[in-house]
Amino acid sequence: MAKKTIEDVDVQGKKVLIRADLNVPLDDQQRITDDRRIRMTLPTVRSVLTRGGAVILISHLGRPKGGPDPKLSLRPVAERLKELLDVPVTFVPDIIGDDARRAVDALKPGEVLVLENLRFHPGEKANDPEFAAALASFADVYCNDAFGSCHNNDASLLGVPRAMDGKPKVAGLLLAKELKYLSSVLENPQRPFVAILGGAKVSDKIKVIRNLLTRCDRVLIGGAMAYTFALAKGGRVGNSLVEPDKVPLAKELLELGGDKLVLPVDTHCGDAFSSDCNKRIVPFGQIPDGYEGLDIGPETARLYAEFIRQARTIVWNGPMGVFELPPFDEGTRRIAEAIAANQDCVSIIGGGDSAAAIQKLGFADKVTHVSTGGGASLAMLEGRRFETVEALDDAD
Ligand code: 3PG
Repeated sequence: MAKKTIEDVDVQGKKVLIRADLNVPLDDQQRITDDRRIRMTLPTVRSVLTRGGAVILISHLGRPKGGPDPKLSLRPVAERLKELLDVPVTFVPDIIGDDARRAVDALKPGEVLVLENLRFHPGEKANDPEFAAALASFADVYCNDAFGSCHNNDASLLGVPRAMDGKPKVAGLLLAKELKYLSSVLENPQRPFVAILGGAKVSDKIKVIRNLLTRCDRVLIGGAMAYTFALAKGGRVGNSLVEPDKVPLAKELLELGGDKLVLPVDTHCGDAFSSDCNKRIVPFGQIPDGYEGLDIGPETARLYAEFIRQARTIVWNGPMGVFELPPFDEGTRRIAEAIAANQDCVSIIGGGDSAAAIQKLGFADKVTHVSTGGGASLAMLEGRRFETVEALDDAD
């Protein structure tokens, strides 16, 4: 069921509580190293401001342990917002206390208030009803624009919309866009529909593989998880990263997938986990002793690029090899190039490592959608529904 968005609500003179995912990476000086998540939520913030509303922005940042941690303050995020928005932005180092309440009361239309990291309060992770009610009491409208966090049933995501007491609770524009690509498009794809799945462990992707096998025409496998499949087929894996206890499961997936589940045909391997190791390209499942698989081989890259060229819908999640260790970034690069070259398809890049890879390679603007969610985009690919999204008002 589609959800109401912020654009469906009259926000003139109203205070809108926007739960964004401003969980951005920081360096050891608390400087933001990638502000994409902040920039992606700006359309929602601007939509409220330009229509005469005021914005109270809330988010978590990192995983603080047992209370406030100055290294994980949202202050640098508020500073960055000040640079990006041409309106007054205030930061208050409080969440539901008197300082926060005073700042909310003083907030005027066209202004932004950023509260402190929600996870500094134990009520956030505990989905504590009192904490949620206090946050809900700050606003006339609740807006969830935090796709990257929607798999977490935290207070700001679940308790707050439930505590809004008849007041509007809607999706932000980023959340609506993420749901469109990771849900609607997957349900009604243009065909051929090709998924490319990589990453280290098959155990992390079991549900994704199962779900995508029911929807896709091909599921192409790369990354270290391919070696567990090699083991399942009786191949040799040398020192590769494998999950021997998942071999029965890999066998089951191979049976279930049939021709749809495509494995590599060759492997780029090395005798150490380092760029200057001795390297060999060998047929898949024939990795010699003393070597480990570190990337798909060139024949696999060619084969996968051909599937990608013919696709009309593409979903990619997880690198094909050790992307941070050249030349074992080559397979991931070739896949990214092939996706970017296919301009006749809807291409969706799951968050996390594949999103970082496509950005690092400079192809982010050549694909249809790069998700801002890591765990959340995986959960969507598993076919999970989010209670946090279900808690929002249905579209008319
Ligand atoms: C993310 O970065 O995936 C989200 O912000 C959620 O963060 P979490 O994994 O700490 O819940």
